[in-house]
Amino acid sequence: METVDINHSHFQVLYLNLPPEKQQHNTLMYKLIIRPILFWFDPEEVHYFTFSFVKFISKIPGVSSIIRSIYEVKDTRLEREVFGIKFKNPVGLAAGFDKDAKLYKELSDFGFGFIEIGTVTPVGQDGNPKKRLFRLKADQAIINRMGFNNGGVIEAVERLKKNTGVLIGGNIGKNKVTPNENAVDDYIICFDALFDHVDYFVVNVSSPNTPNLRALQDKEPLTALLQTLQDRNVEKQKTSTQKIKPILLKIAPDLTDEQLLDIIDIVKTTQIAGVIATNTTISREGLQSESQTEMGGLSGKPLTKRSTEVIRFLSEKSNKAFPIIGVGGIHSAEDAIEKLNAGASLVQLYTGFIYEGPTLIKAINKKVLEQL
Ligand SMILES: Cc1cc2nc3c(=O)[nH]c(=O)nc-3n(C[C@H](O)[C@H](O)[C@H](O)COP(=O)(O)O)c2cc1C
Repeated sequence: METVDINHSHFQVLYLNLPPEKQQHNTLMYKLIIRPILFWFDPEEVHYFTFSFVKFISKIPGVSSIIRSIYEVKDTRLEREVFGIKFKNPVGLAAGFDKDAKLYKELSDFGFGFIEIGTVTPVGQDGNPKKRLFRLKADQAIINRMGFNNGGVIEAVERLKKNTGVLIGGNIGKNKVTPNENAVDDYIICFDALFDHVDYFVVNVSSPNTPNLRALQDKEPLTALLQTLQDRNVEKQKTSTQKIKPILLKIAPDLTDEQLLDIIDIVKTTQIAGVIATNTTISREGLQSESQTEMGGLSGKPLTKRSTEVIRFLSEKSNKAFPIIGVGGIHSAEDAIEKLNAGASLVQLYTGFIYEGPTLIKAINKKVLEQL
């Protein structure tokens, strides 16, 4: 153990002694060497491979802290207090990347302020048949129709019991076989199971890959669903050592202005904590890649503008009545600042993390500090 620790500090000193421009070589190394190798393989296979690789190297004593020393920006000025929770920085990992809460600790070493796990469902399910994940390189985008593949909420809870200090969002959904009229039961099962193990909840009714799920975004069923969960929230804290948990609603970028106004009303009526804008889109506007014809949700660059528009609309029309987590097509520090300026209190990444690499997190945090 001791020798490894010496090696670790040795590496760390070597790295930290490099001038900033050399540290920026990290980004180039990712884009010129690592990304082309990763992109050479099937996207879903490479996702699992990268998971196992990061898990493996993080087990080597000292590696976690080296990764942290490379990517983390530690500065109290990055801290944000949003819906009663203190975030160490405003950059989070969006849902879908660590669906089963298998890698949240290792991922947080890359400098994320929070990790959203899920979408989890009550019972584990395979999701849609493969192939179901497509890179649209020319568009810096991804189309996915994963369909909530996950091991079920109980497995995720077991892993989250080992959490020591990573701020976790729990993104919850319904099983494919559960009809919409019984959807609320699925959300309650996930909510109850995760209550003591997550810092905030996200109600996902906006994935395009579970048949009819998005119909739950209509005013009536959505109000009923959120009100039931919010009542449960108040009830649960009476029997738990924990306080009431912030519940957020994750919405699609394809909602009309009228539907967005409904969302504002629903947040007010149900008193939930806020909104995550946005999930993937079903729009295919302005794409060049051949794979654009694939069914599923589109994420990445083509979504940047629309998701920022949704954030701005919600923020302005509600008079900043509730916090918004901004997500969708953040591929640069400037994209993140734009979302924060449009009214987001925090941001999340998925596709940009894949295309730009982990230095994007650091670049955003540094840019946030520059703006002060
Ligand atoms: C492969 C993939 C799987 C995803 N799975 C989920 C999911 O399970 N639940 C969810 O709420 N969002 C999911 N998302 C949506 C992302 O969390 C995010 O809202 C969306 O991709 C837009 O952000 P981005 O452009 O930074 O990727 C997924 C996205 C991708 C690309």
